[in-house]
Amino acid sequence: MTGLVHHVTHPLIQHKLTLMRQKDRSTNSFRLLMNEISMLMAYEVTRDMPTQLIEIETPLETMQAPVIDGKKTVFVSILRAGNGFLDGMLSVVPGARIGHVGLYRDPKTLGAVEYYFKMPQAMHERDAIVLDPMLATGNSAVAAVDRLKETSPKSIRFVCLLAAPEGLKNFHAAHPDVPVYTTAIDRELNDHGYIVPGLGDAGDRLFGTK
Ligand code: URA
Repeated sequence: MTGLVHHVTHPLIQHKLTLMRQKDRSTNSFRLLMNEISMLMAYEVTRDMPTQLIEIETPLETMQAPVIDGKKTVFVSILRAGNGFLDGMLSVVPGARIGHVGLYRDPKTLGAVEYYFKMPQAMHERDAIVLDPMLATGNSAVAAVDRLKETSPKSIRFVCLLAAPEGLKNFHAAHPDVPVYTTAIDRELNDHGYIVPGLGDAGDRLFGTK
């Protein structure tokens, strides 16, 4: 079974992504663009978020008007690059809760090993939006969602900037029920597990660690 991919091709997002890919772009500029794309992706990924009607007073009359319950949304950042999505997404959904998943790659087995996992309570009431800029091999995304499913969230979506075809295939084989929202599907992975043409190491570029 293949899963659903939302390839978000809005020109504003595509323009900003092109700027982020440029190798000489400064850390500050990369981070600002990441923030802007995060806001726009929050808009896409929350498109079918449930609303409820509340009674409000306009200057003219009383009406029933829709509101969302931001607290029911949990953004789940896969450390560390997933944190790059948080500021932008929170500026659009300020009531959201945040979860973190920390994974490292075992050098011998190359499997994902968990070193940190912290979610809000009552996950069964919440819609989870998992964040990681790069869906490369897909191994950490699969492991993060495996673990997240143990908390039984109401729904799960996965958001990235770039996906490799190999990562999408791996992710969908493991989690065909989790839709992926991405701004681009790049050509392939290279021998070092980098997405090409890609944008390099998202964590290093966000945090200026290289
Ligand atoms: N992680 C990154 O940061 N970049 C890649 O290209 C692949 C994985």
